Amino acid sequence: VSEHTAVPARAQVLVASNRGPITYVPRDDGGLDARRGGGGLVSGLSAIGSEAQALWVCSALGEGDREAVRRGVGEPGVLMLDIDPDIHFDAYNGIANSVLWFIHHLLYQTPLEPVFDAEFRRQWAAYESYNRSFAEALADRAADGAAVLVQDYHLALAPGMLRELRPDLRIGHFSHTPWAPVDYFRLLPDDIAGQLLRGLLGADRACFLTRRWADAFADCCVRTLGEDALSGTRIGVHGLGADAEFLRERAHRPDVAERMAALREQIGPDRRAIVRVDRTELSKNIVRGLLAYRELLRSRPEWRERVVHVAFAYPSRQDLAVYREYTAAVGRVAEEINAEYGTADWTPVILHVKDDFARSLAAYRLADVALVNPIRDGMNLVAKEIPVVSDDGCVLVLSREAGAHEELGEDALTVNPYDVTGTADALHRALTMPYEERAGRTQRLAAAATALPPARWFLDQLTAVRAGV
Ligand code: G6P
Repeated sequence: VSEHTAVPARAQVLVASNRGPITYVPRDDGGLDARRGGGGLVSGLSAIGSEAQALWVCSALGEGDREAVRRGVGEPGVLMLDIDPDIHFDAYNGIANSVLWFIHHLLYQTPLEPVFDAEFRRQWAAYESYNRSFAEALADRAADGAAVLVQDYHLALAPGMLRELRPDLRIGHFSHTPWAPVDYFRLLPDDIAGQLLRGLLGADRACFLTRRWADAFADCCVRTLGEDALSGTRIGVHGLGADAEFLRERAHRPDVAERMAALREQIGPDRRAIVRVDRTELSKNIVRGLLAYRELLRSRPEWRERVVHVAFAYPSRQDLAVYREYTAAVGRVAEEINAEYGTADWTPVILHVKDDFARSLAAYRLADVALVNPIRDGMNLVAKEIPVVSDDGCVLVLSREAGAHEELGEDALTVNPYDVTGTADALHRALTMPYEERAGRTQRLAAAATALPPARWFLDQLTAVRAGV
């Protein structure tokens, strides 16, 4: 492991995550462009920036990041670990995004999956080594009694490893995903399941986005490790909210207005827009969302030519075949719908795959209906962001399996994510909802969605970890 030098020698507050706040992309002229990292985790943790003597430890993710580490380029307060690329590949793709992501989001498909064989064991060794690199870097950099907040399923073993190296530290772990129900969790080999749970229980406080995920974790601990398993660890629930101030300001800049005009042109006059914005990834359930839209057009022909499905599906984790295949399936189904129903001046599905935050905000502002139908989701910030920036009110069609449903369920139209017909019906109901009702619901959704803004979410955790409560 090699690392940067432009960071505090000993920090009082440390955050550790696979993806950091910044990533470097090589330019043709040999320079490096710095870009903000994606995903809900990065949105929440950015509040660390306001802490003095803080250090964010993350991985170098691609060639650009590795080059930045080699050149000593970096942000103050960010330590990028240049972990051996093969180890990182096996830990991140092989274990984290194949096995652990699939377990917590219930994505395995029998009879082909899962298979825990010698190849899995080899990748598991990489996952251990990757976690050890983090634990060692944190142990090195933490001041006496410092607070360390370890993030997500990539780093489930790090809290236990760090506890052994530095018993003086206050350690928190935060899971940004759901937690699997015990019977599903126990698909994992027993020794691996035990190691994962004991890894997290190395923290003073194990935190989740909702009570439901916290309870599932507690259940796994008790059923797998016994009644006393939780005696040394507190379990916390902190429901990350949307950052209203940032979003409202950002959504009213000229680049967003430009993209709104372009989108309106594409949608066409007097048509409704059903909007979704996701990373393209199996848990987001984009294909069933498209099938529901197709069923709406089939069963209620009155909507043909009068509605457009604006789907932004930004490719994610494309090193893995299963994610690539899913990305292709999304494109295929969108094309089928356009071929079946499209006319000379109406494209039923507008699918964009190139990530563009300003365009996402433009779609948020003009959406009549937001479709958020994940199979399971730790929270889902899109569901919280859309009502906050909506210009004219927007009906939220929301999966009951998204963590956000705990807070937003009352004013959303709830769907079972597997029920395509039910989702088509909900879309119809959303499109026909009277304006007054839609406006009232949007207002209440926005209030609920911003109840715990990222800066407070972060500070609440930090305070609780420090106080040992
Ligand atoms: C989820 C995870 C995050 C992750 C993000 C983006 O929100 O909880 O830990 O960073 O997805 O995924 P990626 O694999 O691109 O980091």
